[in-house]
Amino acid sequence: DGLHARAVAAGKKYFGTEISGYVMNDASANNIAKNSQDFGQYTAENEMKFDALEPSRGTFSYANADRIVAQAQANGQIMRCHALIWHSQVPSWVTNGRFDNATLISILKNHIANVVGHYKGKCYAWDVVNEALNEDGTYRSSDSVWGRTIGPAFIPIAFKAAAEADPQAKLYYNDYNCDKPGAKSTGAQNLIRMVKAYGAPIHGMGLQGHLTTGQVGSASQYVSNLQAFANLGVEVAFTELDIATPSSNPNFNQQATDYATIVSACKQVAACIGITTWGFTDKYTWISNSYPLIWDRNLQKKAAYNAILNAW
Ligand code: XIL
Repeated sequence: DGLHARAVAAGKKYFGTEISGYVMNDASANNIAKNSQDFGQYTAENEMKFDALEPSRGTFSYANADRIVAQAQANGQIMRCHALIWHSQVPSWVTNGRFDNATLISILKNHIANVVGHYKGKCYAWDVVNEALNEDGTYRSSDSVWGRTIGPAFIPIAFKAAAEADPQAKLYYNDYNCDKPGAKSTGAQNLIRMVKAYGAPIHGMGLQGHLTTGQVGSASQYVSNLQAFANLGVEVAFTELDIATPSSNPNFNQQATDYATIVSACKQVAACIGITTWGFTDKYTWISNSYPLIWDRNLQKKAAYNAILNAW
């Protein structure tokens, strides 16, 4: 029994976690991550990002990411692979290179061909494009080297390149603040239509789900949002769920209720195939001064654990 076992019993593909090399170096924490009853899936926190994998042009560095994939395979856990093209964590040789449109397109295609080729058959899904939208649902451009040099066409170009390198992988668009209906969620739906209009494959919408305790609200708004994506013919997943509560004044019961709300919403929509949390212990979280996860700093289960178990 566990978080993943319950998700599978509810007809889902996985409950998973983000993990990274420094967490794996903490043997007690890593023992939690290795329990395949709780976690059937991993996402690498930083190890598969552009700057980690292609630190200089044409030189690929796979060892740190391979270590995560190897642990997943040893435990029978699947990988969501994250993330091919993002405006952040891009190496300076790309952002400062002043490449023209055609050259940057070839850099993008070469990166995707190498990386997706290296992991061919090992990734259930790829986050092909991450965070390409502004909050109002328009395409990000000035603060993205991809958007400002290539324009929104970089998005379908990336999906086509990923599909060529691994035809079996589910190809996702992934973003934050698309969890509920609103301008950015509508923008993501338009982005999916745009990719399809270019004749490129897109199979999934990743809802990051970086949420705040007490602001989650009711399941129904998440259900209708998930359904709106499902209506476009793509699957949906919560890909980076964490629910912040301040370490100075945490509210773990409300946090447990909020985790259960998201699980319940996913359970209610067939196209929602799984949930990944962005880490599992408050000992290792990217959100400073917060206790957003399911195990506490001492690696003990919090109220959220049983709330999730019972919500499946
Ligand atoms: C975060 C990592 O957790 C941090 O270690 C890193 O410094 C910045 O990126 N959206 C994403 C993730 O898609 O890749 C981000 O991960 C969190 C927000």
